[in-house]
Amino acid sequence: MTLRFPDGFTWGTATASYQIEGAVAEDGRSPSIWDTFSHLPGRILDGTTGDRACDHYHRVDEDVALMAELGLPAYRFSVAWPRVIPTGSGAVNQAGLDFYSRLVDTLLGDGVKPLLTLYHWDLPQALQDAGGWTNRDTSARFAEYAAAVGAALGDRVTTFTTFNEPWCSAYLGYGSGHHAPGEADPSSALTAVHHLNLGHGLAASALRGVLPSSGQVSITLNLAYVQAASERPEDVRAAEHVDAVANRAFLDPILRGEYPAQLLEDLRHVTDWSFVHDGDLAAISQPLDVLGINYYTPTMVRASTEAERAGWTARWSDDVFGALGGAPYPGTDLAVQVPQDGPVTAMGWLIAPETFTALLERVHRDYPGVPIVITENGAAFGDELGADGVVHDADRIAYLRGHVAAVHDAIERGVDVRGYYAWSLMDNFEWAFGLSRRFGIVHVDYDSLVRTPKDSFHWYRGVIAANGLD
Ligand code: FCB
Repeated sequence: MTLRFPDGFTWGTATASYQIEGAVAEDGRSPSIWDTFSHLPGRILDGTTGDRACDHYHRVDEDVALMAELGLPAYRFSVAWPRVIPTGSGAVNQAGLDFYSRLVDTLLGDGVKPLLTLYHWDLPQALQDAGGWTNRDTSARFAEYAAAVGAALGDRVTTFTTFNEPWCSAYLGYGSGHHAPGEADPSSALTAVHHLNLGHGLAASALRGVLPSSGQVSITLNLAYVQAASERPEDVRAAEHVDAVANRAFLDPILRGEYPAQLLEDLRHVTDWSFVHDGDLAAISQPLDVLGINYYTPTMVRASTEAERAGWTARWSDDVFGALGGAPYPGTDLAVQVPQDGPVTAMGWLIAPETFTALLERVHRDYPGVPIVITENGAAFGDELGADGVVHDADRIAYLRGHVAAVHDAIERGVDVRGYYAWSLMDNFEWAFGLSRRFGIVHVDYDSLVRTPKDSFHWYRGVIAANGLD
């Protein structure tokens, strides 16, 4: 079946600084929380770090040439805060900014439109030493950093995204400890949620002050499509609760200027919310030009029992990977994730493209008026280079095809989706899973650093050229 996308629909690929750059101690970059965390024993599944990753820092030209070969209209990358303001506050490190300035020029030279993310999780370690996202001051430091990048690149970059997936930063970074900085304290996680939201609002205002009037401000959320495991009222309630924790804790303050009453009420046993000050919600709910959505897989939950809740806290701290299966839903102890039957990726994530359409329709219905861009979607599979030196990743092509079609369905049902970015341009450092999970449409050999386009690369080139699926 042929599916054509609207004229002007933007096709892209996405990456993130710590996942691809390497060169962690070059040109004045200081450590981020991910440098510290990835070097702690037992935190990364395969014991690898992002010290070298794809060495993109030294291979920008080669990587942009790959984009040109792909016929890529747009590229989403992130700026490493510790390159630009190494200790998180104070003077700008020109050499750090220059790296991104050159990247932008190289992209534009090849006709690739840059989409810039200011924060894809690499907080300067110096700020973490002062409390990180549990410290309100970090939000103000983030706005200063946003203004510095906006002032330097706003003449060439149209869209600035404040945060990538604040859900992960808050709940995995401070709640479950699976991500840097590795803290496991539910009340810290909720404090971080609010300071990330505040950081978004302050940065959005700061960006408006330095960007040309055509500049666009965005945030990328990893929204969950949450289903209840049964029709039992407590499970339905658990699904609503997780929706509030995972989605509405960000969507509502940003787009409606309020936290959902149910969220505030449900989590009173964790926090008194005193970190929300007068005026914060007005500061957070700045006009948004684009809402970025990352989507991979749906979620099913049931209500937790009291006995389960009693046994959880200790497990969080000492068995990070064991806890992945049995821990409460990150950010709340009132729900438990329930495995679903069906095909999965190498992450164990269920493949269910129809839930993507449903999620997009829900966002459009409940938060109308903001154009949506899919800033990440993709899949890890057990790729191997074949005897012919190529990765024949039919499974990835099927995944992408299904999800691109799901976006098309959403558009046909009236959802205003303007673009789609595949995760990822190339294999890279997949956070707590290290180099062991490959999401790229380009294969990276981590010894030789040779890049080899996979079958999915050639397939995606066809999608871009046709502006749709044939
Ligand atoms: C998202 C992250 C991205 C990548 C994909 C697989 O949560 O934003 O960096 O790790 O998942």
